[in-house]
Amino acid sequence: MALFVRSRKPGDDKFLQELSDEAFGPYSHEPARAVRAMIASPAARTIVAELDGRPVGFVVVTLRRPARAFGPIAEPATAHIDAIAVSTRLRRRGIGKKLLKLAEAHAREAGAQSLFLMTAVRNRRARKLFEASGFVNLAALGNAYAFGDRAIMMMKLVD
Ligand SMILES: CC(C)(COP(=O)(O)OP(=O)(O)OC[C@H]1O[C@@H](n2cnc3c(N)ncnc32)[C@H](O)[C@@H]1OP(=O)(O)O)[C@@H](O)C(=O)NCCC(=O)NCCS
Repeated sequence: MALFVRSRKPGDDKFLQELSDEAFGPYSHEPARAVRAMIASPAARTIVAELDGRPVGFVVVTLRRPARAFGPIAEPATAHIDAIAVSTRLRRRGIGKKLLKLAEAHAREAGAQSLFLMTAVRNRRARKLFEASGFVNLAALGNAYAFGDRAIMMMKLVD
């Protein structure tokens, strides 16, 4: 399997929107629109995985930098994984894990100390992926998604 990863380009947008609708439809009224807004943020980096020249997955990671020191940390920064998805027919082949590693590497290189994400409590496959990659559960949030799902917030130190 010749997997290639790169930054998003404008030609990816149809793929990103279709996969977002399919992957996040169970949790969101307008997933493609939400993902479009995430990607448009200047603080966001979107990494696309390509297999044999076709996009097959993506991750959106966003940096947040408070304007002043936080305790002993002179330049605090946190990174958030806003979305991660892999095409249905290509799941369970390590593509999600690879995208997650790249998001983490981007966060580290950008100077972030921590990486946060949220997913639905009932999204077992995503939680397995995140737990296997070293994320820990921080808190559960009730009625967090469009159809009433509970969310779990997870975090990993990347320093
Ligand atoms: C979550 C998602 C990105 C995982 O992508 P993937 O390419 O299938 O994941 P990987 O093949 O890299 O799996 C890595 C690990 O995650 C866990 N995992 C992934 N899919 C799983 C499943 N269906 N059941 C149980 N564990 C699973 C396993 O621990 C797996 O390691 P293993 O295969 O060595 O056992 C993919 O299922 C997806 O796109 N889901 C819809 C979108 C979504 O829910 N995103 C997360 C919320 S933002």
